[in-house]
Amino acid sequence: MQTKYDTIIVLDFGGQYCHLIGRRIREHGVYSEIVPHDITSDEIKALQEKFNVKGLILSGGPSSVYEPNAPRIDPTILEMNLPVLGLCYGHQLIAQIVKGKVKPAEHREYGIAEVNIDKPVGVLNGLSPKETVWMSHGDTVFALPAEFEALAHTESCPVAAYRHKTKAIYGLQWHPEVVHTKNGERMLRNFIFDVCKCEANWKMEDLIGKMVKEIKADVGEATAIIGLSGGIDSSVATALAAQALGDKLTAVFVDHGFMREGEPEAIRDTFQKFEINFVIANVQKRFMEKLKGVVDPEKKRKVIGEEFIRVFEEIAEKSDAQYLIQGTIYPDRIESGFRKNSDVIKSHHNVAGLPSKIKFKKIVEPLRDLYKDEVRKVAKMLDLPKEIVNRQPFPGPGLAVRIIGELTEERVQVAKKTDAIVREEIEKNGLAENLWQYFTVLTDTKATGVKGDSRAYGYVVAVRAAESREAMTANFAQIPYPILEKISTRITNEVPEVTRVVYDITHKPPATIEWE
Ligand code: XMP
Repeated sequence: MQTKYDTIIVLDFGGQYCHLIGRRIREHGVYSEIVPHDITSDEIKALQEKFNVKGLILSGGPSSVYEPNAPRIDPTILEMNLPVLGLCYGHQLIAQIVKGKVKPAEHREYGIAEVNIDKPVGVLNGLSPKETVWMSHGDTVFALPAEFEALAHTESCPVAAYRHKTKAIYGLQWHPEVVHTKNGERMLRNFIFDVCKCEANWKMEDLIGKMVKEIKADVGEATAIIGLSGGIDSSVATALAAQALGDKLTAVFVDHGFMREGEPEAIRDTFQKFEINFVIANVQKRFMEKLKGVVDPEKKRKVIGEEFIRVFEEIAEKSDAQYLIQGTIYPDRIESGFRKNSDVIKSHHNVAGLPSKIKFKKIVEPLRDLYKDEVRKVAKMLDLPKEIVNRQPFPGPGLAVRIIGELTEERVQVAKKTDAIVREEIEKNGLAENLWQYFTVLTDTKATGVKGDSRAYGYVVAVRAAESREAMTANFAQIPYPILEKISTRITNEVPEVTRVVYDITHKPPATIEWE
């Protein structure tokens, strides 16, 4: 039985990378909690009941320490005798609190920078005289009181790193948590193990227990509902909620008919075995009717989105569930600007929330602090089948946005068959691992061909395969010609309605990954 985890608390000042800090710490086998920046020292002491708090990190953030409403900390936190590491905004804030000189820099430093390590001690132990780091700051620390010493500088930043001479207080102007800081991992490791003396006593497996416990605590003896799309996030959230709630959970799978071949069956097979209330809404006809005559891509998305909500609401009302569980993950939330002091980048459909009419007591989001690859690890630990663990990201409206023009039964079938061939060939040839997505698009163009000895007139299908890290940008994949050839031959042979196959060679930007 695990006692208390050694824990690093991260104070959140709204920086884009705040949760990445938490994640990096977890990667070292040390537990980490992200807390609002205005936590008091008494609240931190109270956390000691649950965790062995061994150190604090103050994250970066978009503010300037000079703004009148700039986020601050309870200054007694620096007196708690806990090691503290300030990063970027955190670095400037500590300097300002101890009455150092912090001023706007002449030039804003943004991106990769070279930093001179003048004293490789403490957090900087083992580093070279010159290190590549990633910075993004307007304010700069120019001087510190006598009880501090500077450890590093850049051309425009005289105090790029510092430490207190007798207490374990450090500041780094750069971001060790992002991969562009070449030895960032070493810096965090130095802080976690050498400065804070943490023991790596936390495992990913422990997270499952924690999430299950949280769902139980939130929902108690009440009932909950979840929309299960078959994507990895909602599947993992369903599997966790199933452990926590059993038959007090209703999972709703809305089968709108635009899933890829074999997917509805995989979802059914997996979740029918769970001891939950599993509802499949077979609403393919209903969706098809609503979409009759709809050609405009945005209208198509809207019709599907609305109908989806309607179906879900109907079932939710019948189920009488008081709680809604969602598989929202961390990147979904950060883009929606959900935290104090962070900027809104874009709204995400998960966060906007599914049902609009139904009142739930609470929306429970067990995966809210995890990244996609962490969710995949949890999925594997939960023994979810590989079709679900390895599923490519798939748009909510499904194949409907990969069929240009009006949707008909015939066209949906053509899209499903051609997509299945691409999937099979890419996976069989070991290319899947390096691709973000690979699929076909059924265009609204027809072309002449020759099949056997006769003229044929059929659909033009485009193959799309993209490499990407997070879908904000993407490159078309340089699939070897022999594999493209095999795909093309198979599609035209096995799907008689198709006479021509083309390959999409456009990056994002200027294109998007999906065609609609
Ligand atoms: P685009 O086409 O904008 O797509 O380059 C970027 C990524 O988002 C996926 N996508 C969606 N995902 N609901 C989703 O959950 C949607 O409506 C949706 N539309 C696009 C797309 O597959 C790609 O991975």
